[in-house]
Amino acid sequence: MNLTLRVWRQKNAASPGRFESYEARNMIPDMSFLEMLDVVNEELMARGEEPIAFDSDCREGICGTCSLVINGVPHGGQKGTTVCQLHLRHFKDGDTITIEPWRARAFPVVRDLVVDRAAFDRIIQAGGFVSVSTGGVPDANAVPVPKDDTERAMDAAQCIGCGACVAACPNGSAALFVGAKLTHLGLLPQGQPERARRGRALVDAADREGFGGCSLHGECEAVCPKGIDLGVISRMNRDHLRAALQAGAEG
Ligand code: SF4
Ligand code: FES
Repeated sequence: MNLTLRVWRQKNAASPGRFESYEARNMIPDMSFLEMLDVVNEELMARGEEPIAFDSDCREGICGTCSLVINGVPHGGQKGTTVCQLHLRHFKDGDTITIEPWRARAFPVVRDLVVDRAAFDRIIQAGGFVSVSTGGVPDANAVPVPKDDTERAMDAAQCIGCGACVAACPNGSAALFVGAKLTHLGLLPQGQPERARRGRALVDAADREGFGGCSLHGECEAVCPKGIDLGVISRMNRDHLRAALQAGAEG
């Protein structure tokens, strides 16, 4: 199959960007989207031109680094699918495909399709972990956890930190990401002692990084490749409120 690619090219964060067109010829429908970009890049380099910069690592949907907006949709619009798991069979021969980086103020463009997502790391560093001393490793059955809580926590733990939720949100909000982390840690017994502090720390860190507020558009849930749902945002709001009430009681 033959495809025309309209690709966002941008030298660095300070330079203006522009779309450039490239032909992807004789592609095989079972190739992945990133394999297609690899082939296009080999051809560009053979001609002495700059290859298209894009991020990827695991190429099996678990690391969260592949981050392309394809035809206006983060990760390309196939349900539960990261860009690296997207295949050309979902496109038609002769299609023109537009490829852009994540668009969000908190994710500045590094080059072409690569953005800097260190803001997510700083949110986690602000408290997205369990730091209480839990002593020795307890017997597996010594800390009972209701099955529903375990399931919900593990569902939330599937968040791979890709940032598609931010890219899809008209407010550039990180609420789905933050809510997933708070739900994952806050539902388990080990996460309870720091739950309120964690809620406040992560939400405040997201605000400092320039992510917008959530106004429940739901675009994040629609594009999340790991099926994180809006319910985690309700938990985030409850944890943040709980922290504010605790601070008020202590003050
Ligand atoms: S909530 Fe979903 S879209 Fe957002 S960072 Fe996590 S996996 Fe990616
Ligand atoms: S490259 Fe790791 S999730 Fe896509």
